[in-house]
Amino acid sequence: MILLNPGPVNVSERVRNALLCPDVCHRESECAELADRIRGKLLNAFVPGAEADYVAILLTGSGTAAVEASIMSCLPAGKRLVHVNNGVYGERLSSIIGTQRLGIAEIKCDWDTPPDPDAILKSLKQQPAAHAVVMVHHETTLGLLNPVHDIADHVDGRGCVFVLDSISGLGGEALDIAGRHMYMVAGTSGKCIQGFPGVSFVLVRKGFMENVVKYPRRSWYLSLANYHEAGEQGGMPFTPAVQVFAAFDEALSELLEEGVAQRMARYGRLSAMIRERMDTLGVRAVLPAELRSNSLTAFYVPDGLTYAVLHDRLKERGYVIYAGQGRFASKIFRVATMGALRDADIEGFLGAFEDVMRRETGNA
Ligand SMILES: Cc1ncc(COP(=O)(O)O)c(C=O)c1O
Repeated sequence: MILLNPGPVNVSERVRNALLCPDVCHRESECAELADRIRGKLLNAFVPGAEADYVAILLTGSGTAAVEASIMSCLPAGKRLVHVNNGVYGERLSSIIGTQRLGIAEIKCDWDTPPDPDAILKSLKQQPAAHAVVMVHHETTLGLLNPVHDIADHVDGRGCVFVLDSISGLGGEALDIAGRHMYMVAGTSGKCIQGFPGVSFVLVRKGFMENVVKYPRRSWYLSLANYHEAGEQGGMPFTPAVQVFAAFDEALSELLEEGVAQRMARYGRLSAMIRERMDTLGVRAVLPAELRSNSLTAFYVPDGLTYAVLHDRLKERGYVIYAGQGRFASKIFRVATMGALRDADIEGFLGAFEDVMRRETGNA
């Protein structure tokens, strides 16, 4: 089955086989070495040249675990967050923040609208208790790339902390973490890094981590300070998903061999193939070209079809597409190019799509 949903993704045989690693106790040195290798590769891939300035914290849990751990860990007592909400995952940030009342201002925009960096700067100036800004890099809701570099510059200029959910971005979309002084960036193994779901991580600026260990611990399982302190002792605070870690290690080797820039280019090329053919077929993209990511495109369901029929007919032919959410639920479909996909997989999908269009609508 070819997965064109934004994670979990198709993995290579090499990554799949890495699950069959020998049984290992997580308190033994082999496990500590595995974690060290993963941390080193993450820093190498995402903060090249600034590896000494960051630490990588590994968690067992899906991407939301890394995002929630970042939010729970980034504030000193009495300080608050400004947060951006322009999609399902921005909404999730608001929900997490709401559980502990850590927010001070929400910058809310339509799902097809990126936030204005100046509005965030204005909000920081108005809110003396604001210590951090948290937002999503690649809003997977419609495949929208937020202007995170400009916002990070404003946040840094105000002496505040920039916290980013790059769960569906890292590996697929350009991100200058070190150059723009991003303090916490959350990622996951099961999307553009092409590992399995179940492991996530946060890249934290080292100087900031020294502060984080002194901040209040608002969660126990999701306290980055707890993970960091255990890591300093060569361990992990809780039982990790060792086999998924082993596959993640292999996926990171693959990423470094392919090259992060080359991976982004591959995703972009595959998306361009899809966008061009959909355009020829008269299938409209939801976002204008300048807002779209490399790795996901949202299209309106063509007239004469429903999402359910399109999904089911494509699945019968070996391809899984992804539904819209919220007010877009039945109106759009999403196609991601994350994962171990080749041009031939996308050609196959486009052929199947044309076939379904022809049979179901008489067009194409
Ligand atoms: C931008 C973004 N943030 C967070 C998540 C949540 O990740 P998970 O489902 O792995 O918890 C997703 C999942 O698609 C996402 O796209």
